[in-house]
Amino acid sequence: MAQPSIATLTSLLADDVTLVNEVIMARMASDVPMIPELASHLIAAGGKRMRPMLTLAGARAATGHIAAADSRALLLAAAVEFIHNATLLHDDVIDESDKRRGRDTANALWGNEASVLVGDFLFARSFELMVETDDIAVLGMLSSASARITEGEVKQMTMAGRPDSPMQDYLDVITGKTAILFAAAAASGAKVMGGSEALIQGLHRYGLSLGMAFQIVDDALDYRSDLASMGKNAGDDFNDGKITMPVILAWQDGDEAERAFWQRTIGMGAIQEGDFEEAVDYLTKHQAIDRALDEAKSYAEQAIAALDVVPEEALREALADAALYTVARTL
Ligand code: IPE
Ligand code: IPE
Ligand code: MG
Ligand code: MG
Repeated sequence: MAQPSIATLTSLLADDVTLVNEVIMARMASDVPMIPELASHLIAAGGKRMRPMLTLAGARAATGHIAAADSRALLLAAAVEFIHNATLLHDDVIDESDKRRGRDTANALWGNEASVLVGDFLFARSFELMVETDDIAVLGMLSSASARITEGEVKQMTMAGRPDSPMQDYLDVITGKTAILFAAAAASGAKVMGGSEALIQGLHRYGLSLGMAFQIVDDALDYRSDLASMGKNAGDDFNDGKITMPVILAWQDGDEAERAFWQRTIGMGAIQEGDFEEAVDYLTKHQAIDRALDEAKSYAEQAIAALDVVPEEALREALADAALYTVARTL
C-alpha cells in the first residue's frame, strides 16, 4: 500500500489554497516595514497549511464544490492560518526555540519583543478577516478557540518540570493548545457555508481527534527525530522541562533511580552532557515513544470514524489520508 500522504488533500484543494495564500500575503501588509518583514519570514517559509485546508475542506463538504466560489471561506481559512502563525511566534519566544520551518526563528533574528508584537498583529488581523465573513457564529467559534490555545499554553507552563503529572493534565493541555484549533478550523468552514448541524459537529469531532493525534506525534518525535526531518530542533522539550506523554509514561513505569533522573533533569533543569541520550534510553526501555505513537493512532482512527458525515467520497478519503499521514510520520 502506498504511504499515506497529505498530498491527496493538498491536490484536491490546490486552487483554493493558492487563493488563501494570496489573501495571507495581502493581509500581512503594513506601513511599518518590520511587520511584513518578520511575518513573511515565517509565513513564506511555508508550513503544511493543515488548518486552513481543514477550513476549506469544511466549506467544500458543506457546498459540494470548490470554495473559491465564495470568498468567505477563503477569508476564514486565512484567518485560521494567521491565528496559527501568531501562536507560533509567541510559542517560539516562550520555548526559546531557534529553528522553525527549517529556518532561524523570528525571535532568534529579530528578538523576543518584535516576535511578540508581530504575533499580536497577526492575531488582530485574523479577527479583522473573521469579521469580514459577516458570520457571528464562526467569529464565536474561533474567538473561543483562541482563548483555549492560550489556556493550553498557560496550563502547560504551570505543569513544566513536573514529570509526576497526571496523563489527563497533558491531554487537557494539548486539547487546548492544538486540537481545539483543528476542530474549529474544520467546523467553521462548514458553518460559514451553511452546512448542516450534523456536518459541523462531525467535522468538529474529526478536527479534535486529528489535533490530538498530531500533537502526540509531534511530542513523541521530539525524542526521536532531527532538524532535517522536522525543520525544528529535536530535544527542545527535554531541555525546556516540558511534560509530554512519553515522559509521563516513563515516569509512571520508572524505578527509583529513573525517577531521580527525571527529577534532576526535567524537574530541576540540571541537565548535563549525555542526559538527553539517557532519557531516550529510559523511554526506549519502557517503549514510551511507541506507546505514545499507538495512542496517536487510536485518535487518528477516531478522527476517521467521524468522517461519515462528509458526503463526497474523494474529500472523505483525502481527510482520512491526512489523518493516517499524521500518525505515519515516525521520524
Ligand atoms: C506546529 O504545527 C505546532 C504544533 C501544533 C505541533 P504544524 O506542524 O502544523 O506547523 P506548520 O504550520 O506545518 O509549520
Ligand atoms: C506548538 O506547541 C504551539 C501551539 C500549539 C500553540 P509546541 O511548542 O509543542 O510545538 P513546536 O514543537 O514548538 O512546534
Ligand atoms: Mg514550541
Ligand atoms: Mg510550546
